[in-house]
Amino acid sequence: MMEAGDRNISQRFVVFDGMHLPPFVPLMKDAKKRFEEIRDMECRKDDVIIAAYSKSGTHWIWEIVCMLLKGRAEYAKETKEFLFLEAIPDMSVVHNLASPRPLNTHFPYRWLPKQHVQNGGKIVHIIRNPKDVAVSLYHQLLQSGLFNDFNFKTFLDQMFLGPACPFGTWFKYEREFEEAEKNDKFGSIHTIHYENMKKNPEEETRKLAQFLEVNTTEELIAEIVDKCSFDKLKQIDSSFKDQSHLKRVIGAEGIKVPDIYRKGKIGDWKNHFTVALNEQFDDIFKEEMKDSSIQVQFE
Ligand code: A3P
Repeated sequence: MMEAGDRNISQRFVVFDGMHLPPFVPLMKDAKKRFEEIRDMECRKDDVIIAAYSKSGTHWIWEIVCMLLKGRAEYAKETKEFLFLEAIPDMSVVHNLASPRPLNTHFPYRWLPKQHVQNGGKIVHIIRNPKDVAVSLYHQLLQSGLFNDFNFKTFLDQMFLGPACPFGTWFKYEREFEEAEKNDKFGSIHTIHYENMKKNPEEETRKLAQFLEVNTTEELIAEIVDKCSFDKLKQIDSSFKDQSHLKRVIGAEGIKVPDIYRKGKIGDWKNHFTVALNEQFDDIFKEEMKDSSIQVQFE
Protein backbone atom coordinates (compact mmCIF):
# COMPACT_ATOMS: atom_id res chain seq x y z
CA MET A 1 0.00 0.00 0.00
CA MET A 2 1.22 3.50 -0.74
CA GLU A 3 1.34 5.90 2.18
CA ALA A 4 0.29 9.53 2.14
CA GLY A 5 3.34 11.68 1.73
CA ASP A 6 5.23 8.75 0.32
CA ARG A 7 8.06 10.42 -1.59
CA ASN A 8 8.27 7.38 -3.80
CA ILE A 9 4.75 7.55 -5.21
CA SER A 10 6.20 8.28 -8.62
CA GLN A 11 8.54 5.28 -8.37
CA ARG A 12 5.65 2.87 -7.93
CA PHE A 13 4.28 3.37 -11.43
CA VAL A 14 5.49 2.07 -14.73
CA VAL A 15 6.76 5.15 -16.55
CA PHE A 16 6.90 5.47 -20.31
CA ASP A 17 7.58 8.53 -22.48
CA GLY A 18 7.32 10.71 -19.36
CA MET A 19 3.90 9.30 -18.43
CA HIS A 20 3.02 7.42 -15.24
CA LEU A 21 0.78 4.59 -16.33
CA PRO A 22 -2.24 2.99 -14.66
CA PRO A 23 -1.87 -0.68 -13.71
CA PHE A 24 -3.45 -2.29 -16.76
CA VAL A 25 -2.00 -5.69 -17.62
CA PRO A 26 -0.53 -4.85 -21.07
CA LEU A 27 1.03 -1.61 -19.81
CA MET A 28 2.58 -3.28 -16.79
CA LYS A 29 3.91 -6.16 -18.88
CA ASP A 30 5.48 -4.12 -21.67
CA ALA A 31 4.31 -0.53 -22.01
CA LYS A 32 6.52 0.28 -24.99
CA LYS A 33 5.10 -2.66 -26.92
CA ARG A 34 1.49 -1.62 -26.29
CA PHE A 35 2.13 2.05 -27.15
CA GLU A 36 3.78 1.02 -30.41
CA GLU A 37 1.08 -1.53 -31.23
CA ILE A 38 -1.55 1.17 -30.93
CA ARG A 39 0.39 3.78 -32.86
CA ASP A 40 1.07 1.27 -35.66
CA MET A 41 -2.28 -0.53 -35.69
CA GLU A 42 -4.14 -1.14 -38.91
CA CYS A 43 -7.15 1.15 -39.14
CA ARG A 44 -10.36 1.13 -41.13
CA LYS A 45 -11.89 4.16 -42.80
CA ASP A 46 -14.96 4.06 -40.57
CA ASP A 47 -13.17 3.62 -37.23
CA VAL A 48 -14.06 6.20 -34.61
CA ILE A 49 -11.62 6.94 -31.82
CA ILE A 50 -12.91 8.49 -28.62
CA ALA A 51 -9.92 10.21 -27.09
CA ALA A 52 -10.08 11.83 -23.68
CA TYR A 53 -8.02 12.53 -20.65
CA SER A 54 -9.03 10.08 -17.93
CA LYS A 55 -12.24 11.04 -16.00
CA SER A 56 -13.54 13.41 -18.68
CA GLY A 57 -16.74 11.44 -19.36
CA THR A 58 -15.35 8.79 -21.71
CA HIS A 59 -17.89 6.11 -20.69
CA TRP A 60 -20.78 8.50 -21.27
CA ILE A 61 -19.72 9.70 -24.71
CA TRP A 62 -18.67 6.17 -25.73
CA GLU A 63 -22.21 4.91 -25.04
CA ILE A 64 -23.71 7.80 -27.03
CA VAL A 65 -21.35 7.16 -29.94
CA CYS A 66 -22.23 3.44 -29.91
CA MET A 67 -25.94 4.23 -30.09
CA LEU A 68 -25.48 6.79 -32.86
CA LEU A 69 -23.41 4.37 -34.93
CA LYS A 70 -26.03 1.64 -34.45
CA GLY A 71 -28.90 4.03 -35.15
CA ARG A 72 -30.71 2.62 -32.13
CA ALA A 73 -30.88 3.66 -28.48
CA GLU A 74 -29.77 0.26 -27.24
CA TYR A 75 -27.10 -0.23 -24.61
CA ALA A 76 -23.97 -2.11 -25.59
CA LYS A 77 -23.70 -5.28 -23.53
CA GLU A 78 -19.97 -4.86 -23.15
CA THR A 79 -18.36 -2.03 -21.19
CA LYS A 80 -16.26 0.53 -23.00
CA GLU A 81 -13.16 -1.23 -21.63
CA PHE A 82 -13.78 -3.94 -24.20
CA LEU A 83 -12.55 -1.47 -26.85
CA PHE A 84 -10.11 0.39 -24.59
CA LEU A 85 -6.92 0.18 -26.62
CA GLU A 86 -4.38 0.30 -23.81
CA ALA A 87 -6.13 -2.38 -21.76
CA ILE A 88 -7.38 -5.01 -24.21
CA PRO A 89 -5.53 -8.32 -23.76
CA ASP A 90 -4.05 -8.26 -27.24
CA MET A 91 -4.61 -6.37 -30.46
CA SER A 92 -6.37 -9.28 -32.14
CA VAL A 93 -9.45 -8.30 -30.11
CA VAL A 94 -9.90 -5.13 -32.16
CA HIS A 95 -8.81 -6.78 -35.42
CA ASN A 96 -11.69 -9.22 -35.07
CA LEU A 97 -14.41 -6.66 -34.36
CA ALA A 98 -17.08 -5.76 -36.88
CA SER A 99 -17.12 -2.23 -38.31
CA PRO A 100 -17.67 0.53 -37.37
CA ARG A 101 -15.44 0.20 -34.33
CA PRO A 102 -15.95 2.73 -31.49
CA LEU A 103 -12.41 2.54 -30.09
CA ASN A 104 -11.36 4.54 -27.08
CA THR A 105 -8.15 5.56 -25.40
CA HIS A 106 -6.55 7.91 -22.90
CA PHE A 107 -3.28 7.93 -24.84
CA PRO A 108 -2.16 11.44 -25.80
CA TYR A 109 -2.59 12.64 -29.36
CA ARG A 110 1.02 11.86 -30.34
CA TRP A 111 0.38 8.16 -29.63
CA LEU A 112 -2.94 7.76 -31.48
CA PRO A 113 -2.94 5.28 -34.38
CA LYS A 114 -0.81 6.91 -37.09
CA GLN A 115 -2.86 5.53 -39.96
CA HIS A 116 -6.11 6.84 -38.52
CA VAL A 117 -4.66 10.33 -38.03
CA GLN A 118 -3.00 10.44 -41.45
CA ASN A 119 -6.16 9.26 -43.23
CA GLY A 120 -8.35 11.82 -41.49
CA GLY A 121 -10.22 9.15 -39.48
CA LYS A 122 -12.79 10.50 -37.05
CA ILE A 123 -11.66 11.43 -33.54
CA VAL A 124 -14.13 12.44 -30.85
CA HIS A 125 -12.20 14.36 -28.24
CA ILE A 126 -13.77 15.12 -24.85
CA ILE A 127 -12.55 17.87 -22.59
CA ARG A 128 -13.68 18.48 -19.00
CA ASN A 129 -12.56 21.19 -16.62
CA PRO A 130 -9.43 19.97 -14.84
CA LYS A 131 -10.65 20.72 -11.32
CA ASP A 132 -13.54 18.27 -11.70
CA VAL A 133 -11.24 15.84 -13.50
CA ALA A 134 -8.86 15.99 -10.53
CA VAL A 135 -11.67 15.32 -8.05
CA SER A 136 -13.01 12.45 -10.12
CA LEU A 137 -9.56 10.88 -10.49
CA TYR A 138 -8.84 11.34 -6.78
CA HIS A 139 -11.99 9.38 -5.90
CA GLN A 140 -11.18 6.68 -8.41
CA LEU A 141 -7.73 6.21 -6.86
CA LEU A 142 -9.18 6.22 -3.35
CA GLN A 143 -11.72 3.57 -4.34
CA SER A 144 -9.03 1.48 -5.97
CA GLY A 145 -7.64 0.70 -2.52
CA LEU A 146 -4.10 1.46 -3.73
CA PHE A 147 -3.49 4.14 -1.17
CA ASN A 148 -3.79 3.96 2.61
CA ASP A 149 -4.16 7.49 3.75
CA PHE A 150 -4.28 9.76 0.81
CA ASN A 151 -5.74 13.21 1.07
CA PHE A 152 -6.72 15.53 -1.76
CA LYS A 153 -3.78 17.88 -1.20
CA THR A 154 -1.28 15.01 -1.39
CA PHE A 155 -2.97 13.84 -4.56
CA LEU A 156 -2.75 17.30 -6.16
CA ASP A 157 0.84 17.97 -5.06
CA GLN A 158 2.29 14.59 -5.91
CA MET A 159 0.13 13.40 -8.73
CA PHE A 160 -2.25 15.69 -10.59
CA LEU A 161 -0.02 18.77 -10.45
CA GLY A 162 3.10 16.87 -9.56
CA PRO A 163 5.47 14.38 -11.10
CA ALA A 164 3.28 11.25 -11.07
CA CYS A 165 0.22 12.28 -13.02
CA PRO A 166 -1.37 9.27 -14.75
CA PHE A 167 -0.81 9.53 -18.54
CA GLY A 168 1.02 12.84 -18.02
CA THR A 169 -0.61 16.12 -17.04
CA TRP A 170 -4.04 17.33 -18.12
CA PHE A 171 -2.38 20.52 -19.38
CA LYS A 172 0.01 18.72 -21.68
CA TYR A 173 -2.73 16.42 -22.97
CA GLU A 174 -5.09 19.28 -23.83
CA ARG A 175 -2.42 21.57 -25.31
CA GLU A 176 -1.34 18.74 -27.58
CA PHE A 177 -4.93 18.26 -28.73
CA GLU A 178 -5.41 21.98 -29.24
CA GLU A 179 -2.37 22.06 -31.51
CA ALA A 180 -3.65 19.02 -33.41
CA GLU A 181 -7.02 20.68 -33.95
CA LYS A 182 -5.33 23.80 -35.33
CA ASN A 183 -3.54 21.64 -37.90
CA ASP A 184 -6.53 19.38 -38.62
CA LYS A 185 -6.90 19.83 -42.37
CA PHE A 186 -9.57 17.12 -42.67
CA GLY A 187 -11.88 18.43 -39.93
CA SER A 188 -11.48 15.03 -38.38
CA ILE A 189 -11.42 16.08 -34.72
CA HIS A 190 -14.69 16.86 -32.98
CA THR A 191 -14.27 18.27 -29.48
CA ILE A 192 -17.04 17.97 -26.92
CA HIS A 193 -16.92 19.90 -23.69
CA TYR A 194 -18.29 17.72 -20.87
CA GLU A 195 -20.01 20.80 -19.47
CA ASN A 196 -21.80 21.53 -22.77
CA MET A 197 -23.00 17.94 -22.99
CA LYS A 198 -24.34 18.27 -19.47
CA LYS A 199 -26.08 21.61 -20.15
CA ASN A 200 -27.37 20.95 -23.68
CA PRO A 201 -27.33 17.20 -24.31
CA GLU A 202 -29.73 17.25 -27.29
CA GLU A 203 -27.78 19.94 -29.13
CA GLU A 204 -24.42 18.30 -28.44
CA THR A 205 -25.71 14.87 -29.45
CA ARG A 206 -27.11 16.33 -32.67
CA LYS A 207 -23.73 17.92 -33.45
CA LEU A 208 -22.00 14.64 -32.70
CA ALA A 209 -24.37 12.79 -35.05
CA GLN A 210 -23.59 15.29 -37.80
CA PHE A 211 -19.87 14.82 -37.27
CA LEU A 212 -20.26 11.04 -37.40
CA GLU A 213 -22.36 11.43 -40.57
CA VAL A 214 -25.13 9.18 -39.28
CA ASN A 215 -28.85 9.55 -39.92
CA THR A 216 -30.94 10.43 -36.91
CA THR A 217 -34.36 11.72 -36.03
CA GLU A 218 -35.31 14.06 -33.23
CA GLU A 219 -36.97 11.09 -31.49
CA LEU A 220 -33.78 9.07 -31.62
CA ILE A 221 -31.69 11.96 -30.27
CA ALA A 222 -34.13 12.41 -27.38
CA GLU A 223 -34.13 8.69 -26.65
CA ILE A 224 -30.32 8.49 -26.68
CA VAL A 225 -30.03 11.49 -24.36
CA ASP A 226 -32.51 9.94 -21.97
CA LYS A 227 -30.91 6.49 -21.99
CA CYS A 228 -27.45 8.01 -21.47
CA SER A 229 -28.43 10.22 -18.54
CA PHE A 230 -26.23 9.75 -15.49
CA ASP A 231 -28.88 7.91 -13.46
CA LYS A 232 -29.72 5.46 -16.23
CA LEU A 233 -26.11 4.69 -17.12
CA LYS A 234 -25.28 4.15 -13.47
CA GLN A 235 -28.16 1.76 -13.12
CA ILE A 236 -27.37 -0.16 -16.30
CA ASP A 237 -23.70 -0.40 -15.36
CA SER A 238 -24.46 -2.62 -12.38
CA SER A 239 -27.53 -4.44 -13.69
CA PHE A 240 -26.81 -5.12 -17.36
CA LYS A 241 -23.18 -4.62 -18.30
CA ASP A 242 -20.68 -7.42 -18.37
CA GLN A 243 -18.04 -6.22 -15.87
CA SER A 244 -15.80 -9.28 -16.07
CA HIS A 245 -13.57 -7.71 -18.70
CA LEU A 246 -12.86 -4.67 -16.54
CA LYS A 247 -11.72 -6.88 -13.69
CA ARG A 248 -9.38 -8.80 -15.98
CA VAL A 249 -7.56 -5.76 -17.36
CA ILE A 250 -6.33 -4.51 -14.01
CA GLY A 251 -2.95 -6.01 -13.34
CA ALA A 252 -1.84 -4.98 -9.86
CA GLU A 253 -3.00 -7.10 -6.98
CA GLY A 254 -5.67 -5.89 -4.60
CA ILE A 255 -7.03 -3.12 -6.83
CA LYS A 256 -10.78 -2.73 -6.65
CA VAL A 257 -12.79 -1.89 -9.75
CA PRO A 258 -13.99 1.67 -9.17
CA ASP A 259 -17.56 2.86 -9.57
CA ILE A 260 -17.30 5.04 -12.67
CA TYR A 261 -20.68 6.70 -12.09
CA ARG A 262 -19.89 8.68 -8.94
CA LYS A 263 -21.69 12.05 -9.10
CA GLY A 264 -21.69 13.22 -12.72
CA LYS A 265 -21.87 16.91 -11.84
CA ILE A 266 -20.19 20.14 -12.87
CA GLY A 267 -18.47 21.93 -9.99
CA ASP A 268 -17.94 19.16 -7.43
CA TRP A 269 -14.42 20.61 -7.15
CA LYS A 270 -15.86 23.29 -4.86
CA ASN A 271 -16.40 20.58 -2.24
CA HIS A 272 -12.74 19.56 -2.34
CA PHE A 273 -10.55 22.60 -2.98
CA THR A 274 -9.67 24.85 -0.06
CA VAL A 275 -9.17 28.55 -0.92
CA ALA A 276 -5.39 28.02 -0.82
CA LEU A 277 -5.49 24.93 -3.05
CA ASN A 278 -7.74 26.72 -5.48
CA GLU A 279 -5.34 29.66 -5.72
CA GLN A 280 -2.42 27.30 -6.21
CA PHE A 281 -4.33 25.49 -8.96
CA ASP A 282 -5.38 28.74 -10.67
CA ASP A 283 -1.78 29.98 -10.75
CA ILE A 284 -0.58 26.77 -12.36
CA PHE A 285 -3.52 26.74 -14.77
CA LYS A 286 -2.79 30.33 -15.83
CA GLU A 287 0.86 29.58 -16.45
CA GLU A 288 0.33 26.24 -18.23
CA MET A 289 -2.51 27.51 -20.44
CA LYS A 290 -1.21 31.01 -21.11
CA ASP A 291 -1.02 30.55 -24.88
CA SER A 292 -4.18 28.48 -25.12
CA SER A 293 -7.58 29.57 -26.41
CA ILE A 294 -9.48 26.60 -24.93
CA GLN A 295 -12.56 27.89 -23.13
CA VAL A 296 -12.58 25.76 -20.00
CA GLN A 297 -15.85 25.86 -18.08
CA PHE A 298 -15.45 25.51 -14.34
CA GLU A 299 -19.16 25.99 -13.59
P1 A3P B 1 -17.47 12.03 -11.43
O1 A3P B 1 -16.42 11.20 -10.78
O2 A3P B 1 -17.24 13.51 -11.27
O3 A3P B 1 -18.85 11.65 -11.04
P2 A3P B 1 -14.59 8.56 -17.47
O4 A3P B 1 -15.68 7.82 -18.12
O5 A3P B 1 -13.71 9.30 -18.46
O6 A3P B 1 -13.81 7.70 -16.52
O7 A3P B 1 -15.27 9.71 -16.60
C1 A3P B 1 -16.02 9.42 -15.45
C2 A3P B 1 -16.75 10.67 -15.01
O8 A3P B 1 -17.84 10.93 -15.95
C3 A3P B 1 -17.39 10.50 -13.63
O9 A3P B 1 -17.38 11.78 -13.01
C4 A3P B 1 -18.80 10.08 -14.03
O10 A3P B 1 -19.76 10.25 -13.03
C5 A3P B 1 -19.05 11.01 -15.20
N1 A3P B 1 -20.20 10.58 -16.03
C6 A3P B 1 -20.43 9.36 -16.55
N2 A3P B 1 -21.62 9.32 -17.18
C7 A3P B 1 -22.15 10.54 -17.05
C8 A3P B 1 -23.38 11.12 -17.49
N3 A3P B 1 -24.29 10.44 -18.16
N4 A3P B 1 -23.60 12.43 -17.19
C9 A3P B 1 -22.69 13.13 -16.49
N5 A3P B 1 -21.51 12.64 -16.05
C10 A3P B 1 -21.25 11.35 -16.31
